[in-house]
Amino acid sequence: MQQLNIGIFGFGCVGQGLYFAIKNSTGFTTTIKKIVVKNKDKERSIDANYFSFDKKDILEDEEINVVVELIDDADEAFNIVSTAIKKSKHVVTANKKMLGLHMEELLALKNKYNVSLLYEASACGSIPIIRTLEEYFDNEELECVSGIFNGTTNYILTKTINENISYHEALKNAQAKGFAETDPTSDVEGFDAMYKTIILSLHAFGVILKDVDLLRFGITTLHPNDILFAKENGYSIKLVPTIKKLADGKIAAYVLPKFVTAENHLSKVDNEFNGVLVEGLISGEQFFMGRGAGSHPTGAAVLSDISALSYGYAYDNKKMQQHNKPSFTNDVAIKVFVSSSNKNFLNKIILQNIQENVEAADYFYKIGEINVGDLKAILETDVRKEIFVVAI
Ligand SMILES: NC(=O)c1ccc[n+]([C@@H]2O[C@H](COP(=O)([O-])OP(=O)(O)OC[C@H]3O[C@@H](n4cnc5c(N)ncnc54)[C@H](OP(=O)(O)O)[C@@H]3O)[C@@H](O)[C@H]2O)c1
Repeated sequence: MQQLNIGIFGFGCVGQGLYFAIKNSTGFTTTIKKIVVKNKDKERSIDANYFSFDKKDILEDEEINVVVELIDDADEAFNIVSTAIKKSKHVVTANKKMLGLHMEELLALKNKYNVSLLYEASACGSIPIIRTLEEYFDNEELECVSGIFNGTTNYILTKTINENISYHEALKNAQAKGFAETDPTSDVEGFDAMYKTIILSLHAFGVILKDVDLLRFGITTLHPNDILFAKENGYSIKLVPTIKKLADGKIAAYVLPKFVTAENHLSKVDNEFNGVLVEGLISGEQFFMGRGAGSHPTGAAVLSDISALSYGYAYDNKKMQQHNKPSFTNDVAIKVFVSSSNKNFLNKIILQNIQENVEAADYFYKIGEINVGDLKAILETDVRKEIFVVAI
């Protein structure tokens, strides 16, 4: 077993969860040499000697062989992680935004410097989904990976649908409970789920997706009548990123709310929980559920990565090495429900094979098929703020 001397960046929600996990681990010991944080005036719950405010105290310490990056600033995280890798230090991170935006550069860097970069906590918190895709499903072709990757939106959707409280009240509750940030944009607009989609696509299909290529739609325009429609038809509404292999072998991926039937495992994933459905060509459907965020669950996932480093673990990115590596496409038709309070905006969404087209006094909806690329294009206009879209 390799002796690990770790330097940690960040001692917030996840950093403190990691500290708790290390102190309460039964079988694993490691030395925390330094913790670099930002705010000099903040009171700390552990010995002040751990802390520094100068990143060089970790990055230029040759005894530190593992950098654990747990800060809330994706740009600075990228600087820290790149520098650490260039200094031949292994890295563990929970930063999905940094990974989602810089996956290609980070992969190239870790390969060039021959270090390990692990990030189990970055996608679906304590659900061990990355290592499951990377190791267990390394040789099996997957057909689809989808799920509930964001706890904040799932909490809001659960409360609005199951408990009849308004979107804004549910968001306020989520913020009060610490599930949502003061600025919830990344969660409710689907960015957070999109970064996780990029991370999981790499390990499930060997494809590096680009954020600008992905159809992404959140839950901010959910209307009470959308909820009524869902309930009347026996659905729940969940934000369900989907990555799937098409008949032509290409990969389609998008982040959209979805009507979920009671038989679907995801319908039982409520509140801040996450769930992942993995459909293998040979093994069939597998379902994983757990806490997608929070101090201790996320800290436990980070600890698991650090522990894996002690026996030399690295992602091999096996799916990237397959012969017929698939390419990404938005050229696929999906069935959607689209609604609006303004008929003019709804008319701008052109659906094929329309199954329903309902007009009430101040609420309009239709159901039909649309090409993902076409939907993405229209959602890049003002129409986005005036409609709600749900995949069926
Ligand atoms: N919270 C979760 O449940 C969760 C789950 C999965 C992944 N993540 C990811 O984990 C990361 C950390 O999230 P968090 O919730 O722990 O954030 P947080 O509670 O806001 O804590 C952020 C920490 O980063 C430190 N920091 C910020 N900028 C810094 C800099 N330039 N140099 C050094 N330290 C800096 C802060 O220092 P001060 O203490 O001095 O302010 C603080 O300790 C994020 O990437 C997040 O997306 C979080």
